[in-house]
Amino acid sequence: MSSAHYQALEPQTSDEDNEDIERQHHQSHSRSSTTSATNATHPPHPPHPMVRKGGVARRRCLLPLVAVALLFVAFCYFSLSRDPRLTSGLGGGSEDSEEASHHGLDGMNFRPLNETVHICSESYEDRRQFMQDKPQADYGQLPVIYFVTPTYPRREQIPELTRLAHTLLHVPRLHWLVADDQEKCNGFMDTLLHRFGIPFTHMVSPMPSKFRNEKPAPRGVANRRAALQWIRQHNLTNGILYFGDDDNTYDLRLFSEIRKTQRVSMFPVGLIADYGVSGPVVRKGKVVAFLDSWVAGRRWPVDMAGFAVNLEYMAQYPYVNMPYKPGYEEDLFLRSIGLQMNLIEPRGNNCTEILVWHTQTKSKKLGIVRLESKYLDDRSNLGALLHNLKLMGVTSTTESEGRDALISKNGREKPHSRILS
Ligand code: UGA
Ligand code: MN
Repeated sequence: MSSAHYQALEPQTSDEDNEDIERQHHQSHSRSSTTSATNATHPPHPPHPMVRKGGVARRRCLLPLVAVALLFVAFCYFSLSRDPRLTSGLGGGSEDSEEASHHGLDGMNFRPLNETVHICSESYEDRRQFMQDKPQADYGQLPVIYFVTPTYPRREQIPELTRLAHTLLHVPRLHWLVADDQEKCNGFMDTLLHRFGIPFTHMVSPMPSKFRNEKPAPRGVANRRAALQWIRQHNLTNGILYFGDDDNTYDLRLFSEIRKTQRVSMFPVGLIADYGVSGPVVRKGKVVAFLDSWVAGRRWPVDMAGFAVNLEYMAQYPYVNMPYKPGYEEDLFLRSIGLQMNLIEPRGNNCTEILVWHTQTKSKKLGIVRLESKYLDDRSNLGALLHNLKLMGVTSTTESEGRDALISKNGREKPHSRILS
């Protein structure tokens, strides 16, 4: 998201630089995969027979052996010190990659994600019979859209998710990954998600406490990281990934557009920052640049809702990541999957239409209703209603705080006892 107070990154590499980096990245991948394949088919040689023999033979051969060993060590040191990736034990594999440092992203957490995934509940069953006037069976061949929604407890959470669900209800072949930014599973949310009949996974993914009080905080990042981990764990290499925040507004055409994604597709997002829009600049059907009022060194200055990724493409990148860097989440994620300008597929009629809006709901603090607890029984609806609102995180009921709740009839306030006893 665009914001002037986010800290800028180091200068960016050019397209040409990046192409070099990509080549190296692929080479290092093929190099490391060749190495591991070789290791797999040829087990390490057994120790040299000399080493196993004891006594005289060992003493006689000791000097030449030491000399050879020293020479070998010297040779290894000399040749390995030319390749920093190998000397630091990276081997193009599990740690921060050469690619990351070339991008000026030193210190970024560009290594395979290692999140713990806490599932609250999930369902793979699609209980919807019809979508957009067609029976479910008509959609059987479509690739699945993995729609990742970060969410967090606040008064507007359940209304936002309800609104979003009623959009998603029209979208066939969709798995909804709802990742809640809190420690404990919200049972109310489990029930809600089950009721919609859309296949879903509900997980909790709290923001690490060290980021909680930062301004700006990395919103929705722990959630998306957990969802990415879930995708990895399930070895999903088929389908489309989309990051859909809980408060945006989605046009149904978005879903048919992103389902066509071969590698990475992009489209403008409405209501972003100063221009009221953020999105690609397209010439002759190709993305050539970006229109966004906040650049700050971002190579991919796009909103989270402005792109979709094919999972087969993403699976090629073991370093897929979304570092906790407010304002740079989209950029760093797209860099972690080796995006190149010429790979981007413009959508929404060559990026001329708005298929998603960055709407933001005005947030208010929790409502408080002062009512004696003796009236919260089944003599009226109020007990159950206020109980539900408490579960939804909307309203709390108190016996002591603030003014007594206003209960009226015929335009006049009535004592609670008159209506509720
Ligand atoms: C914009 C972008 O559209 C987001 O994708 C991006 O994560 C965010 O900026 C950012 O960089 O901070 P914005 O409307 O400003 O979005 O942010 P929110 O809608 O408040 O938060 C983004 C997502 O994270 C939402 O789905 C929200 O429910 C979730 N979130 C927010 C949390 O999980 N935890 C929080 O503490 C706050
Ligand atoms: Mn938002």
